[in-house]
Amino acid sequence: MMRVLVLGGTTEARLLCHALEARASGFTAILSLAGVTRAPVLPRLEVRIGGFGGAQGMAQWLSHNRIAAVVDATHPFAARISANAVAACAQAGVALVRVERPAWAPGPDDRWDMVPDMAAAARAIGPAPRRVLLTIGRKDLLAFRDLAPCGHVWLVRSVDAPDPALLPVGARTVLARGPFDVTAEEALLRHEGIDLIVTKNSGGAATVAKLAAARALGVAVIMVERPVLPHATVVGDADHAMAWLHSRAIIQEGSTLREV
Ligand SMILES: NC(=O)c1ccc[n+]([C@@H]2O[C@H](COP(=O)([O-])OP(=O)(O)OC[C@H]3O[C@@H](n4cnc5c(N)ncnc54)[C@H](OP(=O)(O)O)[C@@H]3O)[C@@H](O)[C@H]2O)c1
Repeated sequence: MMRVLVLGGTTEARLLCHALEARASGFTAILSLAGVTRAPVLPRLEVRIGGFGGAQGMAQWLSHNRIAAVVDATHPFAARISANAVAACAQAGVALVRVERPAWAPGPDDRWDMVPDMAAAARAIGPAPRRVLLTIGRKDLLAFRDLAPCGHVWLVRSVDAPDPALLPVGARTVLARGPFDVTAEEALLRHEGIDLIVTKNSGGAATVAKLAAARALGVAVIMVERPVLPHATVVGDADHAMAWLHSRAIIQEGSTLREV
């Protein structure tokens, strides 16, 4: 059976693991998680948790565990692990595919300000007092905490509680895990009087409802664009990752037969 490593932490990784769990999948798969989410949803597959120790550590781990293929199904903003996967697979001679869900794109009724990174997002809020919904996760709050006080009112939404030391002054937090629906998102925006959402261009269905709600209510959005990742073979979803794995298995089988 071909041994596969799935780098996870996303819906796509969960769906792929579900397909790989099937007895007849033809693969032995291990899911790798960073260990940053307090109560991750775990598959029935073998799971390893925690960093590899950079690209070098991952390359060694791949060789030691006789991994034949890696599926990088991490979040589009998890740039370090994706870059490490490219370097480690090249070093260890292991096939790699990245699952990249399509980015969100604005429609004619959207009021989006596209910015390249979190620092630019913080600057784009401007000096006039705003009621801001920050949905950027827990890691990147510093850029907003360090803004000069302008009377902004902050609501921070994340899966796990953020470090209070990273929060802008007076910020309130709401803990929630998607998927979210448009009616509830509209109700939240109305109830909190939100006039600006700051978000990453994560793409996907689970957290897109806030954008539909913003469109319906005329709420402005600051959209942080995705980091640029090193070149890799890319597929758009878990089904295509599974098809890619099957194609790799055929190639591997062919080369084993040639060796015999
Ligand atoms: N960034 C986001 O917005 C976001 C959103 C939802 C989910 N996630 C998930 O949360 C995890 C961490 O995200 P991040 O932005 O902190 O990543 P990151 O900045 O790219 O990675 C930081 C370090 O965490 C370790 N790591 C990350 N993902 C790993 C995985 N799946 N298995 C083992 N080690 C991993 C690696 O440590 P070593 O160098 O020691 O190997 C990596 O160098 C990712 O797996 C991602 O899929 C991220």
